[in-house]
Amino acid sequence: MTALSGIRACVFDAYGTLFDFASAATRCPGIPEHKRVALTTLWRDKQLQYTWLRSLQDRYVDFWQVTAEALDFALESLDLRDAALREQLLQLYQTLQAFPEVADTLRQLRAAGFRTAILSNGTPAMLDAAIRASGLQGLFDAVLSVESVRVFKTHPKVYAYALQQLGLPAGQVSFQSSNGWDAYAASAFGMRVVWCNRYGQRPEQLPGAPDHVIRNLAELPALLAPIAT
Ligand code: LAC
Repeated sequence: MTALSGIRACVFDAYGTLFDFASAATRCPGIPEHKRVALTTLWRDKQLQYTWLRSLQDRYVDFWQVTAEALDFALESLDLRDAALREQLLQLYQTLQAFPEVADTLRQLRAAGFRTAILSNGTPAMLDAAIRASGLQGLFDAVLSVESVRVFKTHPKVYAYALQQLGLPAGQVSFQSSNGWDAYAASAFGMRVVWCNRYGQRPEQLPGAPDHVIRNLAELPALLAPIAT
C-alpha cells in the first residue's frame, strides 16, 4: 500500500468519526430497545439534512439548535415525544463516547510528530464537552468549529478555514471522516483523505476520491509516511 507522504497534520471529523453518536440512544433507558436504532438513524439523517438545507438557504443557526430540532422531528416521527426524554437525550449527546481506538491513535500520531485537529459542524461548547467526556483533553492542537465561518460542511469555506488555521497547504493535511459525503468533499477540495468507513457505506457518486479507505482509526498511523526532518 502506498503511504501518504508529506503529511504534517491529521484533521478529524467529530461525530461518527471520533464520537459515537449512537451512544446517546443506547444509554437512554427511556427509549424502548426496538426503537433505538431507528431513533439514532433518523436523528442523524435529519440533523445532516438540516445542515445542508440551512446552508443552501443561507439561514445558519448553530449545530446545537440543528441537533435539537432534528431530535424533535425524530421523536415525533417515532411517537416518542416527551420533554424529559428529549432533555435526557440532549444531555447524553453532549457526552457521547469516543470510539475505543481514538485515544491511542491520537497519541501515536502525536508521538510521530503529526499535528492533530478536529474540524466539525459542532459548536465549540459541544466539542469541548465531548472531548472532556471521553478524556481526550490535550490530544488536539486545534479544535475547529464551523461556527467561525457560519456555514456547514460541505461548503468549501469550512475546509479552507482548517487550512488557514493550521497554516498548511491542502496537500499536507490528511482529513479523516466516517461520513462518505464529508470525505469526498474534502478530497474534491484538495486535501488528502482517509475515509474511515466504519458503517460500511457504499462509495459516493460525488466529486472527490478518498486516498484510502479504512474500517477504524487504528489503521491510520501505518498509512502515513514519517515526517521528513
Ligand atoms: C461533524 C459531523 C458532520 O462533526 O459529523 O462535522
